[in-house]
Amino acid sequence: MGLNLEINIAGIKLKNPILTASGCFGYGDEASDFFDVSRLGGIITKSISLLPRVGHPPPKVAETASGMLNAIGLSNIGLERFINDKMPFLRKCGTTVIVNIAGKQPDDYAKLAERISSLSGVHAIEVNISCPNVAEGGLEFGASEKGAAVVIEKVKKVSRVPIIAKLSPNVTDIVAIAKAVENAGADSISLINTLVGMAIDPKTKKFKISNKFGGLSGPAIKPVAVAMVYKVSRAVKIPVIGLGGISCGTDVVEFLLAGASAVQIGTACFAEPKVFTRSLDELTAYMVANGHNDIRELIGAVKDI
Ligand SMILES: Cc1cc2nc3c(=O)[nH]c(=O)nc-3n(C[C@H](O)[C@H](O)[C@H](O)COP(=O)(O)O)c2cc1C
Repeated sequence: MGLNLEINIAGIKLKNPILTASGCFGYGDEASDFFDVSRLGGIITKSISLLPRVGHPPPKVAETASGMLNAIGLSNIGLERFINDKMPFLRKCGTTVIVNIAGKQPDDYAKLAERISSLSGVHAIEVNISCPNVAEGGLEFGASEKGAAVVIEKVKKVSRVPIIAKLSPNVTDIVAIAKAVENAGADSISLINTLVGMAIDPKTKKFKISNKFGGLSGPAIKPVAVAMVYKVSRAVKIPVIGLGGISCGTDVVEFLLAGASAVQIGTACFAEPKVFTRSLDELTAYMVANGHNDIRELIGAVKDI
């Protein structure tokens, strides 16, 4: 009998559980020079906003121990150019397409979701709630139960495709936020986005990135992400997609055992664009070596010591 790597997440069909993380894979087209993107479980696009955004001035990234800090400022080509220039490739990329959206107010998210979910070739929407809420003085939507729920409710009302709420880890109680978005109608939850961080160069005495604060990602954040996936997947009924520091097949297994139904890989693909297919091969080898026929056998299967 062949291995089953397929997984259905709240109506989103994935041929395997390995997806690209938003902001680390552009809109999928650049990577098609490096490997066959149809082998991916799915492509998640860079966050799209209603209008194009230039983002923060350079330097936008800095390397840290086992990770990186970034403050890109959500630079993206905006909704219209995304539809005209990027959807034609995504429609024929041969895998599941999930469009990530970002806004400054709840109505921005609703407008984006209504339009994007009506496009052919879009299978789901991931909502980046780690964005400053302009009406609340710049506090992130995802920082409060109310802020997170308002966005998800609005999006859910107008969307024709399943909604994944992408949670920020920069909160006191991640389970409370997860329950709030579940109650607001989210079909799935992805976590984690980056952790707030800062780096200063002692030689120049200057900040290493222009925005002063950045988002920490990469292997350094993996234990934080695994713990949050474990907590959240036990507290909600909707499926959880895990990410944060994944760079190989055994990292994927770790997130599945913690309770994730699928995973995303971000930072690791900057150094190694083929990390997705290598991790998929390693996941398959792990299943064979451990006598698993179905990927679902691994989800939440962590054992007590
Ligand atoms: C350069 C860069 C840009 C990112 N841009 C976005 C974005 O536009 N939208 C979003 O939801 N997350 C964005 N993220 C967060 C990632 O999708 C992911 O949640 C985070 O980096 C943790 O995963 P990783 O350690 O595998 O990178 C970005 C991360 C990086 C490093």
